[in-house]
Amino acid sequence: MKNFWQKLKKPIIGLAPMHSVTNSAFRKKARQSGADLVYSEMIASEAIIRNVPKALKMASFGPKERPIVIQIFGSNAKNMARAARTIEQKFSPDGIDINFGCAAEKAVKQGFGAVQLKKPEAAIKIIKKVTSSLKGTPLSIKIRLVSKKVADTINFAKTAQSAGAAAIAIHGRTLNQKFKDKADWEIIYKVKKALPDLIVLGSGDIRSAEDIKSKIRNLDGVLVARAARNNPTVFKNLKNFNLSLL
Ligand SMILES: Cc1cc2nc3c(=O)[nH]c(=O)nc-3n(C[C@H](O)[C@H](O)[C@H](O)COP(=O)(O)O)c2cc1C
Repeated sequence: MKNFWQKLKKPIIGLAPMHSVTNSAFRKKARQSGADLVYSEMIASEAIIRNVPKALKMASFGPKERPIVIQIFGSNAKNMARAARTIEQKFSPDGIDINFGCAAEKAVKQGFGAVQLKKPEAAIKIIKKVTSSLKGTPLSIKIRLVSKKVADTINFAKTAQSAGAAAIAIHGRTLNQKFKDKADWEIIYKVKKALPDLIVLGSGDIRSAEDIKSKIRNLDGVLVARAARNNPTVFKNLKNFNLSLL
């Protein structure tokens, strides 16, 4: 049976996860203005398993926000699996996502986000454990470029897919780059080329319909973060391109 990622009409123009930004009200506006998919902000797995009300509220959503992917973070495989299963049971989102892309100082210090790409075995263990705990909800991951070497990101994505990831969103910058320089989309295209059955979304510097048209190439979709940050209805303009020209 096809999972929701495979069923979604392509190209997917989605709202990227943004900490302290992509809450329920924001996501609803984004969906109403045409976003094909929305992500929650990242939620601490440890807070979910402790039933912290704020974390549970962050993982809840209304029907108008669907399709929605709830993103969690953490470095303990067992706790990540428990958190994912709790979210699945309580809220039944369309997808659950792991944040392997955060480059904030706090994340690096605490050992979650993009720093986990430096320890691929531990990250893959998390993916395996989370996938096997879920009863039907597809797991996706969001990463940065593992390094400037194409093979590193392809290898990570390949192992993640074998471990059970159904989709991957890639921000075209490395951990060290944070938000400097332009996002490198060439590596993202090469990941999709190497792994045609994996749903691959690109992220980084999408600000206009023109950007989407020029950057989408062989990808299944793109995610938009900063261009939507102060304007959740930006999707009205972003989707104003002729699909037949893609
Ligand atoms: C304010 C802010 C918060 C973010 N929070 C998250 C997050 O919670 N999880 C995540 O995976 N990425 C997060 N990101 C990264 C974005 O999802 C996206 O990959 C990145 O900003 C590049 O896309 P853009 O050029 O469209 O902004 C955040 C980015 C910004 C600007």
